[in-house]
Amino acid sequence: MRMYDIIAKKRDGGTLTRAELEFAIGGYVAGAVPDYQMSALLMAVYLRGMTDDETATLTDVMARSGDMVDLSAIGGVKADKHSTGGVGDKTTLVITPIVAACGVKVAKMSGRGLGHTGGTIDKMEAVPGTRTEMTQEQFFEQVNDIGLAVIGQSGHIAVADKKLYALRDVTATVGCLPLIASSIMSKKLAAGSDAILLDVTMGSGAFMHTLPEAIELARLMVAIGTAHGRRVAALITDMDKPLGHNIGNALEVAESMAVLKNEGPADLTEVCLQLAANMLVLAGRGDMAACRAMAQRTLKDGSAFEKCCRMFAAQGGDVRTLQNTALLPQAPHRFELRVGQSGYITQNDVERIGSASVLLGAGRLTKEDAIDPAAGIVLHKKLGDRVEAGESLATFHAADPALFAAAEETYRQGLVIGPEKPNEPPLVYARVSADGVETF
Ligand code: URA
Repeated sequence: MRMYDIIAKKRDGGTLTRAELEFAIGGYVAGAVPDYQMSALLMAVYLRGMTDDETATLTDVMARSGDMVDLSAIGGVKADKHSTGGVGDKTTLVITPIVAACGVKVAKMSGRGLGHTGGTIDKMEAVPGTRTEMTQEQFFEQVNDIGLAVIGQSGHIAVADKKLYALRDVTATVGCLPLIASSIMSKKLAAGSDAILLDVTMGSGAFMHTLPEAIELARLMVAIGTAHGRRVAALITDMDKPLGHNIGNALEVAESMAVLKNEGPADLTEVCLQLAANMLVLAGRGDMAACRAMAQRTLKDGSAFEKCCRMFAAQGGDVRTLQNTALLPQAPHRFELRVGQSGYITQNDVERIGSASVLLGAGRLTKEDAIDPAAGIVLHKKLGDRVEAGESLATFHAADPALFAAAEETYRQGLVIGPEKPNEPPLVYARVSADGVETF
């Protein structure tokens, strides 16, 4: 077999066999297939697409390129969730304690932020002392003991995806449904959970910009997971507005704790309840209404917050900062972003809000960049809100006031104030499961 022929077959619209995919992916991981040939194949896939079966096979080959975690040492159904990424997307910090407080085990591996989107591991590390690396034995022990552990993704999970994602990032081949679906699902399958809830974000801060595109990605990922014997569903959630008000690591931890104390913003609380209820349904805890009520109870009776504190305590985190979030890292400098005219916010590009927060120090542009846990943005007004001239739309938080100018410029580039109130996007557009698509 030759890589040249595999590239030519896909270039001409052919369907690759398992043997061909194993040759290409295995060869790339081993270093026998060079970047330039893999780049050509990725571009051919980007332009020609893949059949559903071909994508499922690619996912399987990628999953098996590293460790396949066996969670059987943990009793009961294990649930996982994955978001395709967003700005101010702190749902993992809220949902996983809710689900664990309802008696479903969560053994989750999460990522770091890159580009304009944030990552759960960076948020967790904003809590002083928190460890996000542990041995497999410690991981299993913690999940068996308190029902919940969230750690950084092991370097040995879906090894092919790490190499391929870095290559896609520099060859303009990220935005391709079979490649996104196989990238996400290879990691989820390898991480071993029985029930997987996918949060497919849609809007100006997400990979997917239209509902048909988001539904197609969700359908593909649900089909791949189901074909591998997992219980999978996806919610299509809005990312035309950041979730909640806070963007930046410590700021997002503070807002997540507010939700867990049942004092959080309505939009974030509602999305978290819907995601948690769906995870509980997948884990077999009852129908949607019963699961939602169960999730809501854990916010009211404090059991989800308590579960979250137990997880952080087990991972070395200073729980006093969760009880009193004023003790979390605080930026020494603040800047109010004010508007010169009255009207409605008719556009507030979420990717630019995320990029402004990265410029303040809250995120990284390359994997090596250090982040400032205290930096970020607190939004006072969002898309669709009425604003009066001179009012503050957002407070910027940074270690150095010299960072404010570039962040302000980036934020304002995506901001339009107009006379008419725009239509409000729904928080959740659709639910995709093995039974089909339900739109809301
Ligand atoms: N998230 C992933 O893990 N992979 C992609 O390709 C896109 C989003």
